Amino acid sequence: MSHTAGFQTDGATPPAQAFRDAMSRLIAPVALVTTSGPAGRHGLTVSALCSASAEPPSVLVCLNRDNRSHAAFVENGVVGISLLAPGDEALAMRFASSRITQEEKFSDNDWRESEGNPPVLVRAAAWLTGRVGAFYPAGSHDILLCHVQRIGLHAQDVAGLAWFGRDFHALPIPAEPVPA
Ligand SMILES: Cc1cc2nc3c(=O)[nH]c(=O)nc-3n(C[C@H](O)[C@H](O)[C@H](O)COP(=O)(O)O)c2cc1C
Repeated sequence: MSHTAGFQTDGATPPAQAFRDAMSRLIAPVALVTTSGPAGRHGLTVSALCSASAEPPSVLVCLNRDNRSHAAFVENGVVGISLLAPGDEALAMRFASSRITQEEKFSDNDWRESEGNPPVLVRAAAWLTGRVGAFYPAGSHDILLCHVQRIGLHAQDVAGLAWFGRDFHALPIPAEPVPA
């Protein structure tokens, strides 16, 4: 019996919808990615984010070039990343909206921001700020290589927030701390 119900290709490029359906089964983080500077303050929700290197600390973020905020990341050249915890699902949906202004996105909640350091959510499970070292074009998106300069960790152990099956999922606080 075959377990594969979906689309199989024989060398041809699979349809975009088949790809989206496959990626809906990829367990992903939920983060707010922000920037500030001459092009103004912008932010959006992302799940296409991963650790790239610990030495030096760097992360990869994939941003759609059609996003309103894309040009601001290019011009400002700095990035803030707030890893969200359960309870911030509504905030994630607000930052994923293209119908509200950037000012409305940042209208409440506690943000930590200073000259050259984009806003990060104070209550985030962890936050990072840094500069964008490179933009690598990848189809509809740009892959941003972000060099991390500052890190903040929530004072308590926090639960995780995952994006899977086009929905949010709360992950429990680990019973035993994972060794660093
Ligand atoms: C859970 C979730 C994850 C998302 N991940 C990404 C992502 O990784 N990259 C991206 O460009 N957009 C992603 N989006 C879509 C953006 O958040 C959305 O297009 C947003 O409106 C862009 O904001 P802007 O138009 O103000 O730039 C995601 C949306 C949701 C709900």
